[in-house]
Amino acid sequence: MPAAGFVSGGGVGANAPKNRFAGIAMTAFSAFGGILFGYDTGVISGVKEMKDWLRTFGHPDSTTKTGYAISSSDESLVVSILSAGTFFGALLAAPTADYMGRKWGIVFACLIFSAGVAMQTAATEIPLFVVGRVFAGLGVGLVSCLIPMYQSECSPKWIRGAIVSTYQWAITIGLLLASIVNKGTQNHDDHSAYRIPIALQFVWAAILAGGMSLLPESPRWLIKRGRDADAAQSLSRLTGYNTTDPEIESELDEIRANLEAEVALGESSYVDCFRFTKNKIALRTLTGITIQAWQQLTGINFIFYYGTTFFNNSGISDPFLINIATNIVNVFMTLPGMWGVERFGRRRLLLVGAIGMCVCEYIVAIVGVTISVQNIAGQKVLIAFVCIYIAFFASTWGPIAWVITGEIFPLQVRAKAMSLSVASNWLWNFGIGYATPYLVNKQPGSAGLESKVFFIWGSTCFCCIVFTYFCIPETKGLSLEQIDLMYQNTTPIKSLEYRRRLMADGNLPTEKAADVHEDHKSQEEKV
Ligand code: BGC
Repeated sequence: MPAAGFVSGGGVGANAPKNRFAGIAMTAFSAFGGILFGYDTGVISGVKEMKDWLRTFGHPDSTTKTGYAISSSDESLVVSILSAGTFFGALLAAPTADYMGRKWGIVFACLIFSAGVAMQTAATEIPLFVVGRVFAGLGVGLVSCLIPMYQSECSPKWIRGAIVSTYQWAITIGLLLASIVNKGTQNHDDHSAYRIPIALQFVWAAILAGGMSLLPESPRWLIKRGRDADAAQSLSRLTGYNTTDPEIESELDEIRANLEAEVALGESSYVDCFRFTKNKIALRTLTGITIQAWQQLTGINFIFYYGTTFFNNSGISDPFLINIATNIVNVFMTLPGMWGVERFGRRRLLLVGAIGMCVCEYIVAIVGVTISVQNIAGQKVLIAFVCIYIAFFASTWGPIAWVITGEIFPLQVRAKAMSLSVASNWLWNFGIGYATPYLVNKQPGSAGLESKVFFIWGSTCFCCIVFTYFCIPETKGLSLEQIDLMYQNTTPIKSLEYRRRLMADGNLPTEKAADVHEDHKSQEEKV
């Protein structure tokens, strides 16, 4: 019986799948949700600086460039309320995914998101705009959890990492699009200045919802709901095999057997996500929550949220161009990450990325405190290292944090544990966004760290190295069910060897996994 994971080989003769790439294309399409995520988080920073927006929502102020200003409390409300929405949206993703299913959950998220976009587009006063941001945030939070869940459950194991990475790629494209659209409309003298960039989000939501309604549901969710015939149909569309093909039957058997074993272990409440079981559920949930926290603590959003202000203070002449440049690096350097995640594996890339980011951030900190604002050559070095830092993030921690979150949980608690992990991403996203001005600015009441803040990001990246070494197993090429076995039978540090044996044994049936472990142990003892 082959291990589940949506048959990786091509198959020949009568057993050949009709079109195995259709499934890959379908699963990759859902990455479009990343555009919603990236665009929505990116659009507000430009919108809130637009003259027409400030005139509509703020008050006259002759001391500013536009002649209008908005109170600090309104500004921080408008910016940070999205995080409140996304945090609760991520938590809501668990019941939504379990009750409605992964696919219809995403369509539902698009509807909530669109309601939020409608309110923001129509608003001419702060309260409606803020409520709109909350609804849009709920939608983004839901999507940010449901997309990697859907992709992980629907993609073939040999390319799962690359497919989930397309989601991160879409996030980066969304961020870039937002900065370009903002730049395009910022000088309009009427409400179209901000209404166009905001309303454009209807298009993203419509494409995602329309496309998702045509895609198959996750076969793993269907099995969990006891809808075996539908699961076979869905798996057939995803793999290109006929529903009666032995490949499909054995895949379904494997998912079913695994689920039964998990169900036998008991109910799955939120408390169960933290139980110390043979299945190491607590370790896995904490790993998911922590990897998302560390991804934020790499300091990436310091660049994307405050980069413009930071580079302005550093005396760089066109911070807007630097903003575009950092976004372009982010988009293009995600591509090698998508390839590398299946070539070099998750653990190795996370280690390399954390080391690279750590070194770059210390260099930026040291250069920043040593040179003066007038030192143009020095400022260029600073930007170059910021770009190299982004390149390391984009090709490693950006996509792989989502890949890991999508694949390390057993089916029984997957929705809950994933939603807790994604909620952790948004919580830290909010915390860092909120705290940064206080850390960086020189005003009274703030720590005035300026470029020294990079010493903090360098140190957090050092923690990322330690965390990866002890907590991240190598899961490349394994089915979600094999990952379950891996957690049961070995530790992250020894996972490379265990994985090699699991893969060498080909389509290893569940019962045999224990033997591998025993075998492995006795080998180790001999050594
Ligand atoms: C992070 C976001 C970040 C983006 C940058 C995502 O994976 O979760 O917070 O803004 O990457 O590309």
